[in-house]
Amino acid sequence: MKVSKRANVAPFYAMEILKSANELADGGADIMHMEAGEPVSGTPARVLAAAHSALDESHLGYTEAQGNPRLRARIAQHYADMYREEVPVEQITVTIGASGGLILAFLAAFDIGDRIALAEPSYPAYRNTLEAFGLEVVGLPTGAETRFQPSVDLLEALDRPIQGLIVASPSNPTGTMIPRQQFEALIKYCEAQDIRIISDEIYHGITYGEAAQTILAYSSNAIIANGFSKYFAMTGWRLGWMVFPPDLVRPVERLAQNLFVSPPALAQISALAAFNCRDELEANVARYDENRKVLEEALPRAGFGNLAPCDGAFYVYADVSRLTNDSYEFCQKMLKETGVAATPGIDFDPKRGNRYVRFSFATNRETVQRAADALVAWLEVD
Ligand SMILES: Cc1ncc(COP(=O)(O)O)c(C=O)c1O
Repeated sequence: MKVSKRANVAPFYAMEILKSANELADGGADIMHMEAGEPVSGTPARVLAAAHSALDESHLGYTEAQGNPRLRARIAQHYADMYREEVPVEQITVTIGASGGLILAFLAAFDIGDRIALAEPSYPAYRNTLEAFGLEVVGLPTGAETRFQPSVDLLEALDRPIQGLIVASPSNPTGTMIPRQQFEALIKYCEAQDIRIISDEIYHGITYGEAAQTILAYSSNAIIANGFSKYFAMTGWRLGWMVFPPDLVRPVERLAQNLFVSPPALAQISALAAFNCRDELEANVARYDENRKVLEEALPRAGFGNLAPCDGAFYVYADVSRLTNDSYEFCQKMLKETGVAATPGIDFDPKRGNRYVRFSFATNRETVQRAADALVAWLEVD
């Protein structure tokens, strides 16, 4: 029988490494998991308590397609608290993870055949989802000179117009942020050319220097993706939110009614408590910062070069071209010989990803230290 061409998306190699790591662990190996972009700290305590009460006391039926009005209002308050930005509640849609929000955004903003640009390297689901929806992905070959982020020069070098641009600052897999001037220039260029920007702000809150500013401060036409998986450490609750500009609000509502009916009720009620867990969440960020420093000191000693400057998120993107020209094979070998599980760069950059490996340090300090020691012992250069 027929299988659609649109289903022919690339595999997620991080999951292949995870599978190998689990097989080795079943055989008794000591594995240090640094392949998944998932906080090991787990759900904040107050969210769990709120979920217990909701199970006893709430009806937990469908909510409105755009989400629980109380949660939407709380998210609007979050923009006032974090960024001093006023966001009308109507423009906020609660979604099934940022992933569900990106689906709504791509469907609402673009037509089949539209061209959407993104940095190479980028979070792989952007590319794979866009392709499954019949959109053309335009990879921007970014490097250290633009902090692995899109720039006006890279857009001007394209041979044909684009209709959309995805940015993520801080980014997965590099952790880099778009410098303010570069960001402002990009927004100005895109507004002038009618290019819709989607700003993935899911790593906001996890920064090690300057705090990240929402694109709302610069543009009223952009789409914002965010959610509870990263800073709020609630991956399995499958809850995110989007801020849509006024012209997309009603189209998105109609799509959400039909595609998802509503986001999960239990997760929405529980997530109200997430905004009262600052101490716990800030302690997570402080731990990530320590982990980052351990890796930034140890990885160059082990021969991993040119680390992308990690401004935020919980990733180190390391150049392994001195060590291999096949990052997937390298990650499998590193896993078998040291127990350190990391993600090959081919997940993020189909063209140059064989030169890179991503380490996630959203884990505990002890795991990061043991991984750093194991890698230095494995590869140490004189
Ligand atoms: C940049 C980026 N955007 C979106 C997502 C998806 O997040 P969610 O769990 O909210 O669907 C991820 C998950 O790793 C991510 O790294």
